[in-house]
Amino acid sequence: MAASLIDGKATSQKLRERIATAVARLKQDHGVTPGLAVVLVGEDPASQIYVKNKARQTLEAGMASFEHRLSAAITEAELLSLIAKLNADPAVHGILVQLPLPAHIGEKAVIESISPGKDVDGFHPENVGRVATGEGGVVPCTPLGSLMLIKQALGDITGKNAVVIGRSNIVGKPMAQLLLAHHCTVTIAHSRTRDIASVARTADILVAAVGRPEMVKGDWIKPGACVIDVGINRVEKEDGQGHKVVGDVAFSEASDVAGYITPVPGGAGPMTIACLLANTYLSTCRTVGVPPVDIF
Ligand code: GUN
Repeated sequence: MAASLIDGKATSQKLRERIATAVARLKQDHGVTPGLAVVLVGEDPASQIYVKNKARQTLEAGMASFEHRLSAAITEAELLSLIAKLNADPAVHGILVQLPLPAHIGEKAVIESISPGKDVDGFHPENVGRVATGEGGVVPCTPLGSLMLIKQALGDITGKNAVVIGRSNIVGKPMAQLLLAHHCTVTIAHSRTRDIASVARTADILVAAVGRPEMVKGDWIKPGACVIDVGINRVEKEDGQGHKVVGDVAFSEASDVAGYITPVPGGAGPMTIACLLANTYLSTCRTVGVPPVDIF
């Protein structure tokens, strides 16, 4: 293994400690406790685990956690009515509706119903637009956490070639926007890209966010590149004895070629929740008109 491991677990822990300190100060100086409402519709097992972890880490950071677990049979109108209540609730500074939603509920309508000021996911079109134009806006958590890891490994990334594999609204597109804002030359590759391996090999920074287990092979990677693996894929073990979690990158071969690489688990994943807490803290400061301390 040639690559240095990028330890997202340790970095996220330190970020969460800085957030907890900032939250304690906000409470002491201004009497305000940041509140995060998380809404889960249905019983998707992976989503249940994420939501449980989010609630635990919210409380650990000294924030209030409001969990709403709703039946998969709820109507879109009922969900929109809950969101309207949360939008109006002064104790709630951040709202997250866990995706994916059941097929009968329109994701777009739900995202657009969240007040942009409480949209700690950064999925509302107003925040998407602001991030794209560099006018502030809430930055989605996974790209924000990934960017922190990239800068921790490489420092200044001006002029680097960055390739993002995947074009989702949640990760791929905002990741590309952030890298562009940090002066990288950015390519977004996806399922229709011709000769994706050659495109990937141009990358000084390669972000894999496709949701395909171990798709990115060792020979897709430029020697010395910084590889961020956003994938979390549950696959059957080779011996058929249970399951394991792997990323979108074939870790063992990639780590022989890369300069820096995130492991799965323990890389980009833990940064996502830490950045959710960061966004909730920032949203609270904006709402109450207090300048935030620098947590990043
Ligand atoms: N489902 C998977 N990732 C995310 C995320 O970052 N936010 C929300 N709301 N749902 C998700």
